[in-house]
Amino acid sequence: MSNLSHAPEQGLSMDVTEAIYGRRATRNFTTAPVAADILTKLVDAAIQAPSAFNAQPWHFTIIRNLALLDRISAAAKPYMLSMLNPKSTPNGIREHLSNPDFHVFYHAPAMILISGKESEWAVEDVGLAAENLMLAAHSAGLGTCWIGFAQPWLKTPEGKRAVELDSIYIPIAPIIVGYARETPPPVPRNPPLLQWID
Ligand SMILES: Cc1cc2nc3c(=O)[nH]c(=O)nc-3n(C[C@H](O)[C@H](O)[C@H](O)COP(=O)(O)O)c2cc1C
Repeated sequence: MSNLSHAPEQGLSMDVTEAIYGRRATRNFTTAPVAADILTKLVDAAIQAPSAFNAQPWHFTIIRNLALLDRISAAAKPYMLSMLNPKSTPNGIREHLSNPDFHVFYHAPAMILISGKESEWAVEDVGLAAENLMLAAHSAGLGTCWIGFAQPWLKTPEGKRAVELDSIYIPIAPIIVGYARETPPPVPRNPPLLQWID
């Protein structure tokens, strides 16, 4: 991969405010594949994220094998269902996961799994890389969505084997990537719980 630490990638030059406010979780994709060079540019943007002690504990698995994504979806649904807390699970989630037609990756043409080397700050570091990646994708005209439904199963030994992940890494951020069929509508935000201490 090219080392472009000091220059924004071509095609990833959207204004930061536009990217932050315009990015949306995308769940409806065209079947168009995403080219390898674009996916590697997204990874390049991801690794510009800060990390504690500059440990850069991330690992990226780029999956474009649709049969594998189908297999992960099929395994992740019952696993997630078995883990849901009946008291805190929002309405409809159980029904979604029980629906044989529901695909946790929404038939996206690609998924980038960001994993973290087991360490104290891996989750924080990977979260920052994930947001960079999603913003960069938006600026490149791509839709993304972090798929938490896939996380628990991917963390199992069977899940790690399925994505050929070394046991030192923990799968943290499965992010689907593809071209949106339509622009998702804005999702309202609650006012921030804001406390000033002057
Ligand atoms: C950690 C995390 C897990 C998520 N898991 C899922 C998921 O499994 N399936 C899904 O459709 N969306 C998932 N999302 C997307 C959120 O539902 C979405 O970001 C939220 O509704 C706000 O919408 P926006 O991203 O368009 O602003 C997840 C987001 C995050 C940050």
